[in-house]
Amino acid sequence: MCGIVGYIGEKNCVPILINGLKRLEYRGYDSAGIGLIENGNSSIIKNKGKVSVLEETVSTLNLHAGLGIGHTRWATHGIPNEINAHPHSNEKNTLFLIHNGIIENYQTIKKGLQNLGYNFKSDTDSEVLVHLIDSFLTKDYSLSKSVQLALNEVEGTYGIAVIYQNEPDKLVVARKGSPLVVGLGEHENFIASDVSAILAYTKQVVYLDDGELAVVSKDGFTVKTISDKEIEKEIHEISISLEEIDKGGYPHFMLKEIIEQTESVRNSMRGRLLVNEGTAKLGGLADVVDRLVNSKRILISACGTSWHAALVGEYMFEQFARIPTEVEYASEFRYRNPIIEKDDTVFLISQSGETADTRAALHEAKNRGALVLGICNVVGSTIARESMAGVYIHAGPEIGVASTKAFTSQLIVLALITLLVARKKSLSTSEGKKITDELQKLPDKISEILKLNDQIEQIANEFKDSKNFLYLGRGYNFPVALEGALKLKEISYIHAEGYPAAEMKHGPIALIDENMPVVFIAPKDSTYEKIVSNIEEVKARGGRIIAIADDADGEIDSLVDYVIKIPRTIEMLSPVLNSIPLQLLAYHIAVIKGLNVDQPRNLAKSVTVE
Ligand code: AGP
Repeated sequence: MCGIVGYIGEKNCVPILINGLKRLEYRGYDSAGIGLIENGNSSIIKNKGKVSVLEETVSTLNLHAGLGIGHTRWATHGIPNEINAHPHSNEKNTLFLIHNGIIENYQTIKKGLQNLGYNFKSDTDSEVLVHLIDSFLTKDYSLSKSVQLALNEVEGTYGIAVIYQNEPDKLVVARKGSPLVVGLGEHENFIASDVSAILAYTKQVVYLDDGELAVVSKDGFTVKTISDKEIEKEIHEISISLEEIDKGGYPHFMLKEIIEQTESVRNSMRGRLLVNEGTAKLGGLADVVDRLVNSKRILISACGTSWHAALVGEYMFEQFARIPTEVEYASEFRYRNPIIEKDDTVFLISQSGETADTRAALHEAKNRGALVLGICNVVGSTIARESMAGVYIHAGPEIGVASTKAFTSQLIVLALITLLVARKKSLSTSEGKKITDELQKLPDKISEILKLNDQIEQIANEFKDSKNFLYLGRGYNFPVALEGALKLKEISYIHAEGYPAAEMKHGPIALIDENMPVVFIAPKDSTYEKIVSNIEEVKARGGRIIAIADDADGEIDSLVDYVIKIPRTIEMLSPVLNSIPLQLLAYHIAVIKGLNVDQPRNLAKSVTVE
């Protein structure tokens, strides 16, 4: 959720913080602020709105500091306004704090602090932290000790960065449940909630784990646990480049990421296909493959788009690997006391690898002794590190809040895992080869689909004023219907629902009239005839129909109002192709409506609170 960045060193940190916040804006964008300390002076600048507003304010001031922290907020407690924006400060304005997460016992702590005479300015939970730390500083504890003592009283989640005018040679950070990295430079160091904020300055990072606190100076850092145990940390080299996190001339990250799918899908399979053997090789699963193959049951847990990918995975695992598979919303999984056995495998799918609900599901599964495997995009992310083993999808950085290329890459990785397991069970080499052959053809087929951009934009123009949409698909493409509807809702704010096509008769059909566009995902697969019947049912009731169909399908044109014809592939891989026109449709509708595609209202890319 909120983005955090900080700097300590010999340079002026103001442009570094502003640039970092711009990179982090996809994490939250309702307000932003920076706190600076230099030569015994401290200043805070905060604004409601986007980082550009803050940047404008900052440009009118002549600010210079070698120590500073910056924050871009996604509101949890307290409306988006200047007072609730971070950093929060103590009464004397000598102590600044930024926070990502939720302090669950903030009311109790607040009352205690108010009894001690502390005044609160904001409605946030975060402000209690700054006063709590201050209460220890006034007892002559050092900054790091005060942070440590304060965090011992706190329940909830946090990634925090704290600076103090009386100790201007350090920046203190700590995490529990919210990601934090320390970036290493020459006579300068950085901290951030994710590496994109500091990638322009360093590629050497240290990932903090939950319960850890780091004291960062310009020439080094130390890490200990909140309970005071010194820790040696490993330094990691970041492999992503700056170009990968730039818009690269595209008007929006979302469009860039949709178009990148030719490559991202290729990258997800690179070096992983054993074409002659009709199987896949996944280094990340090498040590656990036998346990996976012998699993009695597979559970897949995820949120949002990743949950839709999980549903496709369920079809794949059950059809080819013949292992009973269940999919569960991560947010529900943990709270219903799930039955998890030691011979179960639990997959967690997460683009960011930081989603709080998915992490909670991971911990639940681990505690119950299952084999816990992560499918993540962000290398070094918490879910990737906390899983027992896993597979990176290698889609490259995804910045647009609406997930696109990560979805198709998740599907590829699920197909690869299916292949690996199924071939070790009963799938023959020739059947495996059919899948590897089709996998290899996908990038070219995606290029063909992207050529339909103009046609899809025209369709978007026709439907831009619709108030509701229905998305219908069957079998493997039922999750695609859900995903198409989610994309439209997220970025165009049009109400849309996805349904298994046959379920329409059991209720949603009552909604159909000439104002209701219905998007059918209708490849010529085992469910085609049934889908055609559903199309007829909608047509008979005056609904306006858009269909995604195979390019060789000559029948469908006369049945529907608009048809987007795409290359054919095998049924298990058809969601990869069918989802792309739906991404473009949602994208164009949002652009035509003049909406902020990359930063849709109320959303954040990485949902690190439960
Ligand atoms: C997708 O477009 C959404 N922004 C959202 O549903 C997302 O997929 C969900 O929050 C899960 O995120 P994750 O994959 O990073 O765990």
